[in-house]
Formats: sequence, structure tokens, C-alpha cells
Amino acid sequence: MISASYHFPKGFLWGAATAGHQVEGQSKDSWSAWEDAPGRILNGQKAGLACDWWGGRWQEDFDRAAQTGQNAHRLSIEWSRIEPEPGRWDNEALDRYREMIAGALKRGLTPMVTLHHFANPLWMEESGSWEREDSPELFERYVCRVVEALKEDVNLWITINEPNVYMLCAYLEGVFPPGKRDLTAAINVYANLARAHARAYHAIHRIQPQARVSIANHFRAVRPETASPLDSLAANLMQRAFNDSFPGALRSGVLDLGFKRISIPEAANTQDFIGLNYYTLDQVRFNLLKSRDFFQTRRFPPSAEVSDTGFIANVPEGLWLALKWANRYQKPIIISENGVEDADDDLRPRYLIQHIHQIWRGVNFSWPIKGYFHWSLVDNFEWERGWSQRFGLWGLDVETQARVRRRSVDVYEAVCRENSITSEMVEQFAPEIFKKVFPA
Ligand code: FCB
Repeated sequence: MISASYHFPKGFLWGAATAGHQVEGQSKDSWSAWEDAPGRILNGQKAGLACDWWGGRWQEDFDRAAQTGQNAHRLSIEWSRIEPEPGRWDNEALDRYREMIAGALKRGLTPMVTLHHFANPLWMEESGSWEREDSPELFERYVCRVVEALKEDVNLWITINEPNVYMLCAYLEGVFPPGKRDLTAAINVYANLARAHARAYHAIHRIQPQARVSIANHFRAVRPETASPLDSLAANLMQRAFNDSFPGALRSGVLDLGFKRISIPEAANTQDFIGLNYYTLDQVRFNLLKSRDFFQTRRFPPSAEVSDTGFIANVPEGLWLALKWANRYQKPIIISENGVEDADDDLRPRYLIQHIHQIWRGVNFSWPIKGYFHWSLVDNFEWERGWSQRFGLWGLDVETQARVRRRSVDVYEAVCRENSITSEMVEQFAPEIFKKVFPA
């Protein structure tokens, strides 16, 4: 057996990612209202107390992260708490977040803060949400409040989490609030999100010139199923519409949807780093019968292992494609989310090692990859899928709030502490993939 290791650069950020609505509990926002309406969430579940972070349990979870070698944490701030009514600011809520972030720093966790992660204040949602023409302005006003309050402690900002997923799920598939299936609304919202990001980007830099600002880009890897040019065309279309359009706008100032181009000049060059969320890869095949799905069928590679509810296939090469893509922007890269739902923790140890191995391949090419945030620290409320998906390094008993340490904690702790993947680790935690990670 060979003995070897893959090292990461000094100062590499190792953390987990969370989002307000999914962990805080006691929310009053667009999602809590959506959960109250029948038929929206799998099995009628609700976030409820979630992981009870608003009740203070962030402290014990940050302890867990810090005590197991992590040195960073990505969390989000809920607009609905900061501005519960239009123009009314809740300073107490802001203080709580300030305390949370100070708590992260005290434990040696560098905070990366998301300003919008799928949830809106109720008043915003009920008055037209991101279709409102003034939504970018409203977002900027909220962002300024937060950044003024936290600028001493936070340098890494994610303005908006996964604009492509949000637009798709909320305005085309109708599975996120407001549950629309309306292409015109979707395009309008997409453009407003880009305008909102641009305003937030410039505002943050005015308040805090040294800040580093990005979005969390969701990259769904795609590859053509066969060598047929039609399959390539289909894959290409998907790549451009879903993966390229939004970050493209933040580079060029033009939101290019293929069939429509929208000029947003203020968005040009507004990512200081590339936040990258990667989970899985699709194989794409051209299909003339699927006009509503852009003439394509998608499926996971048939040989890939699939997660508990069929949500994610373990295809580490997809992360390699994602990194290659991100590197074209010639900015530092931070993997802002990556993980798998796996209640029994059978797949996660190898998923974790294989994906971190792909990151190391980029590091080995001297690509400027600065950190990795695992989704997620503790099982949390997974949107329209409710509690059916278990993404945590720690499991959660939703009734009792008890946390259950999974074996993956040991895996991740070893990686974080040694700032590397070693052959001993792979031998110990996932011997079945040894030859894939350390080919002889
Ligand atoms: C991402 C979301 C995150 C979580 C994971 C599983 O799309 O950003 O909140 O739900 O998927």
C-alpha cells in the first residue's frame, strides 16, 4: 500500500455552510407562510424550531465545528428579521446576528455571510416580491444596514444564494414560494436579482472597501450522453442557460439567456471571488418530444451511486468540471456548498473524500482555490423536501433537538486538522475508493 498525501495551501478555509431559514427556527418569512399552506412541503412538514439556532443552539453547533478542526463557517442573515415591516429595522435581531458572528470568531471560525438565501420578508413576498421594480433598491437598503453593523467582523459576503435555482424553483417549477410557473415573471426576477446583486456589491464596497463579495453560483454539471452532435447541443444549451447566464452577467453586464439579452451594465465585474455550490452531474440527451424541457432528457450516469431520495448522484468529476469552469473567471474560488443527503452515512465518507480530492487537483494546478464549506453542519430543513433529506455531518432528532455525531465528522475532522487527504485516512474511512484516490 502506498503512503502519500495531498496537501492544501496554508490558510485554506475548512468549514460547513448553513442558511437562516433552514436552521434558525421560529421564522416569519415567505417560507413559513408557504409551509403553513397545505400541500407545499413533502409530508406536510414545517421548519418549526429547525435546529433552534434562534433559541441559541448555534453556540453548541459552533462548538462542534470548532472542536472538530473547522476554521470557518458560512451562515446567512434573514432579511425578514432585520426588516420585519417595510422601513422598520429590528436592532435586536441585528444584535443577535452580531453576537453569532462574534461567537464564530471567538471559536476561530472565519465567517462568510450570505445576505439572501431563498427566503424573503413576508411584506416583500406579498407585495410582488422580486417582480417589484424597486426590489433591487429594497435589497440594497437592507444590505447597507447589515454591512454597517457587521463590517468589523465580516470580510466575505455572498449577496444572493443560487439565483439560478431560486428563479427556477420559485418562478418556473413553482415548488418554492411564490409558486409561479411563468416565464415572463422568471426572466424579470432573474434580471432583478442581477440588479440587486450589483447594487449590493457596490454598496458593500463603499462601506467596506476591503470586503470580498460574490454570489453562491450553483453549478449543475452536464455532459452529453452520447457522441451525437445533438446531445452536445442539448448539453450546451443547458450549460449556457443554467450555469453560465447569471455569472456571465456579473462579468459582462449582459444577462444572456440565449433567446433574450438584457443589459445590466452596473453588474459588470461584480464578483471578487467565485462562490461555487456543486452537488451533482446530469447526462443530457436531445429529445424532440420534450419541447417544454428545452428538447432534452436528463438523467444521472447509470453507473453512479445515488443518494437516499434520488436527489444526488456521486459524480466527483462534476466538481472537477465546475472548478475548471470557475477558474475561467480568473478570480479566487471558494466552494461555498457541497455535500450529500445520507441518513445512514454510508455514502458521505467517500463522497466527501472524493470531492475534496477533486479540489486538490485544482490546487495542484495552482488554481486559486481558497476554501471549502460542506453542506451542512447539522441536518436541517430542506425546503420543499422538508426533513426527508439528511445533509448534516451531525444528525438531528427534530423532536428532541439531540445531535448525533456521524462518522463523517471523523473524516472531515481528519482532513481539516491535517489540511490534507492522506492515504491513511482513505484506508481508514473509505478503503473501497483507495485506488481511485491514490492510483498506484
Ligand atoms: C442548495 C441550497 C441549500 C441546500 C442544498 C441541499 O441548492 O443552497 O440551501 O438546500 O441545496
